[in-house]
Amino acid sequence: MDKLIIHGNIPLQGEVRISGAKNAALPIIAASLLSPAPVRICNIPHLHDVTTIISLLGQMGASLTLDERFNIEVNASNVNCFHAPYELVRTMRASILVLGPLLGRFGEADVSLPGGCAIGTRPVDQHLKALQAMGADIQVENGYIKAKTKGRLQGTTIVMDIVTVTGTENIMMAAVLAEGQTAILNAAREPEVEDLANFLNTLGAKITGAGTSTIVIDGVKELGSGTYHVLPDRIETGTYLTAAAITRGRVKIKDTRPDILDSVLLKFEEAGAHISTGTDWITLDMKGNRPRAINISTAPYPAFPTDMQAQMMALNTVAEGTGMITETVFENRFMHVQELQRMGAQILLKGNTAICTGIDKLLGAPTMATDLRASASLVLAGLAAEGETSVHRIYHIDRGYERIEEKLSQLGARIQRIPSKD
Ligand code: EPZ
Repeated sequence: MDKLIIHGNIPLQGEVRISGAKNAALPIIAASLLSPAPVRICNIPHLHDVTTIISLLGQMGASLTLDERFNIEVNASNVNCFHAPYELVRTMRASILVLGPLLGRFGEADVSLPGGCAIGTRPVDQHLKALQAMGADIQVENGYIKAKTKGRLQGTTIVMDIVTVTGTENIMMAAVLAEGQTAILNAAREPEVEDLANFLNTLGAKITGAGTSTIVIDGVKELGSGTYHVLPDRIETGTYLTAAAITRGRVKIKDTRPDILDSVLLKFEEAGAHISTGTDWITLDMKGNRPRAINISTAPYPAFPTDMQAQMMALNTVAEGTGMITETVFENRFMHVQELQRMGAQILLKGNTAICTGIDKLLGAPTMATDLRASASLVLAGLAAEGETSVHRIYHIDRGYERIEEKLSQLGARIQRIPSKD
């Protein structure tokens, strides 16, 4: 397994371009199953998770062509297999996103239960309960979700017990071709949910309210073709902003959207960063100063995103003062803490809160990535630490960050990928 070697304590500076959002690209590619016509999706990030969902759709009979810029054309007119196998789903939970489209268009789906992952049990009960309310017959057996509908799904009012991003997305996709109107109450408001709705409306769907907690979908008979440009990745943006803040440097982030990062930008200002923004760019400048500790409580959008929690924890480890970070979304998203402690971080865990007393300098060490955002946090800590840090099992990071060592090197980081011998 590849590893990253980082020589830290270098203030980063320069410009970096943001890729398309992983968590928008995945549902949008899955949603292309809903149309019998070819659709073109641009600004897709070149990530392992994207390759996974592309091969999943290919196994179902969709034909997918990619150009040199990784723009994708999907033609789902010949989809004839409605099976998402465990071998594939276990490597990427987001495969559950084919469930709604398969049921909505073909009335049939046989999708492996995603199972848990490092950050939590991550059940899909909300997805299944809502689909049953729309008339699907769902059996869960031998680790698979076997779902069927007689004719089209029926529109209805769904109240989500929990705010769930992919749960909202699955129901929205299932409702697009359903009979009548579906209202999703207590819907997730993430920008990626809105991006999915915009994509579906481009193909002829009738969705209103995406981005708010009430989404209304009027079922249509069939979707057509279209071209769509995926929105920039707000979590990748936040990660590079953290790289500049933790090394007391300055960075200009391009091809991004500051308007979907309010909660994160405000926290960087609290940490003492000087932030300026334009339509598609953000600059962060620490003016060489040490960051101040910040308090965070993660929650669904527009509150502070859980996907930025590990990165801000790394920032707190070298900040002035004591910061408290509470994780309210996932039950086990502190896997990065023990690895940061091995670099000298002073972090005390009390339930779902991490109390971190900043130290002046972390010391480089060999570390192990456990999940996507935890691995980003270890890279960030390595950028700030004295000496050499190695981050093992970086396949985790390759799932969500396109060319991370290239983009960080552009900012002056001393970082290299060591391919594994095995
Ligand atoms: C999406 O995951 C993202 N993934 C995650 O990003 C992100 O952390 C998460 O939303 C929260 O923002 C994609 O969009 C592909 P949830 P998702 O359903 O949809 C519980 C990353 O790093 N829940 O909003 O799986 C669940 O256990 C990844 O890019 C139920 O109990 O998250 C969790 O505690 C990690 N029952 C909470 O809700 C359900 O049926 C929120 O989960 C569904 C969810």
